[in-house]
Amino acid sequence: MENPFKPTAGATPPDIIGRQGLLDEFAYGLRIRSGAPGLLTIFTGARGVGKTVMLGAAENTARAQGWAVISETATHGFLGRIGNAMGEFADELGDGPSGRKITGVTVAGFGVTTHLPPEKQVEWRETGARLLRLLDSRGTGLVITVDEIHAADRQEIAQLAADVQHFIREGLPIGLVFAGLPAAVSDLLNEGVATFLRRADRIDLHGASIEEVQRSYEQTFAAGGFPLEPALAAAAAEATGGYPFLIQLVGYFLWQEAEEASELTAAHVEHAVAAAHRRNERVVIEAALSSASHRDLDFLRAMAEDDDASSVGDIGARIVAKPNTIGNYRSRLIDAGLIEPAGYGIVRFAIPGLREHLRENR
Ligand SMILES: Nc1ncnc2c1ncn2[C@@H]1O[C@H](COP(=O)(O)OP(=O)(O)O)[C@@H](O)[C@H]1O
Ligand SMILES: [Mg+2]
Repeated sequence: MENPFKPTAGATPPDIIGRQGLLDEFAYGLRIRSGAPGLLTIFTGARGVGKTVMLGAAENTARAQGWAVISETATHGFLGRIGNAMGEFADELGDGPSGRKITGVTVAGFGVTTHLPPEKQVEWRETGARLLRLLDSRGTGLVITVDEIHAADRQEIAQLAADVQHFIREGLPIGLVFAGLPAAVSDLLNEGVATFLRRADRIDLHGASIEEVQRSYEQTFAAGGFPLEPALAAAAAEATGGYPFLIQLVGYFLWQEAEEASELTAAHVEHAVAAAHRRNERVVIEAALSSASHRDLDFLRAMAEDDDASSVGDIGARIVAKPNTIGNYRSRLIDAGLIEPAGYGIVRFAIPGLREHLRENR
């Protein structure tokens, strides 16, 4: 058995820990079809917590029930791409323009403009309704997933929301599942660009519990023929803090150790944990910090002086800045997914290991 762990962004792990309840709810919504609450969902959470994996799992659930799935990332022009995909699905399902065959190349389509001009908007909605009626007649529907909506153009999101709302009103079977960083999603909802989205189930994803991780490690290693003692599995699980990306990294490196050793020991676990933390630091933390300015870094370093959450007032005193300047840095860093609000005037790091990284790299 090859190493089953998947320490890569968006890659489906061997065991999707702690999400079965959410997936069951989504599957239930698919059975109810039009208007079920689970079919309008926004997953939020820090980098590496498993948002993209949740979208993938929701897509698989939908496909397994015969639904059509369109999977997009909210980069420039996603609304047009969704329109093209809907058109292709509708043609495939058989009522396309006579004689027209899908060649894999979309000719006319919706182009790559940001939001669609009015005439294209009408066409988009007609294409969607045509597809949804076809799917409805087969007892299924369409699920659209959009990842990274924190980066979305507001007008495109507003258009998509308005169209989906219209389909739901018509009783058509559509599901819309979004994922994005928490603070940016809050802004999006508060700005009122798409009030309809406030009705979505907003699910803030968190890490798994240490016990769940331990159990999962024991099972995955046993399935590969590498028995892992409960105490070692517990130590490995503990070192992940339940953070999904670290769960995969620790599992991955420990599996490598297991392939070479006759029996796993505490030293192997320590080794794997150290390698995992180094990799997490390189991949997640350095990438997250790459867009931070000098002043952002000053703010973060001032936070790293605290052992727990920090008061924004204290940070202002440490780096000697005016409250409104501090407020600006605070919101920039929240949008970047580096820190998160933890109560009034309180912030904390949004990525595990960030504090330690800042302390060690002054
Ligand atoms: N429920 C989970 N259980 C175990 N590992 C997970 C889970 N969700 C995600 N992962 C792993 O965590 C990492 C980050 O997942 P990803 O979905 O890319 O996070 P995000 O989109 O929130 O940044 C990947 O390596 C993935 O395999
Ligand atoms: Mg992601």
